[in-house]
Amino acid sequence: MRLHVADHPLITHKLTVLRDKSTSSPTFRALTEELVTLLAYEATRSVRTETVEIETPVATTTGLAIATPKPLVVPILRAGLGMLDGMVKLLPSAEVGFLGMVRNEETLEPSVYAERLPDDLSNRQCFVLDPMLATGGSLISAIEFLFKRGAVDVTCVCILAAPEGLAAVEAATAGREVTIVLGALDDHLNENGYIIPGLGDAGDRLYGVV
Ligand code: PRP
Ligand code: URA
Repeated sequence: MRLHVADHPLITHKLTVLRDKSTSSPTFRALTEELVTLLAYEATRSVRTETVEIETPVATTTGLAIATPKPLVVPILRAGLGMLDGMVKLLPSAEVGFLGMVRNEETLEPSVYAERLPDDLSNRQCFVLDPMLATGGSLISAIEFLFKRGAVDVTCVCILAAPEGLAAVEAATAGREVTIVLGALDDHLNENGYIIPGLGDAGDRLYGVV
């Protein structure tokens, strides 16, 4: 597993406002989108490209285009949906698949409640979006789901992670092409499985308490 933790004052600044419990939902949504666009720059560093020849107004030259099959972006519903616009802003030609997952707040076990993904992901590069990597259970299930369908490599963009969850993802994905890109690596998980200091429940802060 490759890990990249962002180290940029703009990212830390935006994260600080996101963490603040007095930040309103509209601001939280706008900041999430901006943060993801900044993280997407690093997450797409190894996006597959192919050489293309083009004509400028004065010469012929070669450049790069995103290769086919197109990358697949997979937001994990609900909270990952808040990251989608920020990601596709940077990768507009990507296709988008959806996975709905919810964590049981007692057992902390994830379950899949919705799925709309191509059956065959052979040779596809996948970008999973989920703001919170807490115990890692949700992300591990999502990654396994994509590899079972034939994905070749999976890059996960998360805003915050706990060290415990990151270690669990590393153990569960040993030998696989997995990259994790984080806005920040936080301190620990509390007894309820929340990231500390964290930002609370990302889905509730984006869309309201359910
Ligand atoms: C949150 C979050 C992750 C998951 C992380 O989703 O968006 O998907 O918890 O926890 P884990 O690493 O311990 O699995 P939640 O289940 O609250 O659903 P929501 O996005 O609909 O709010
Ligand atoms: N899910 C969240 O939304 N926040 C956490 O801190 C942990 C899981």
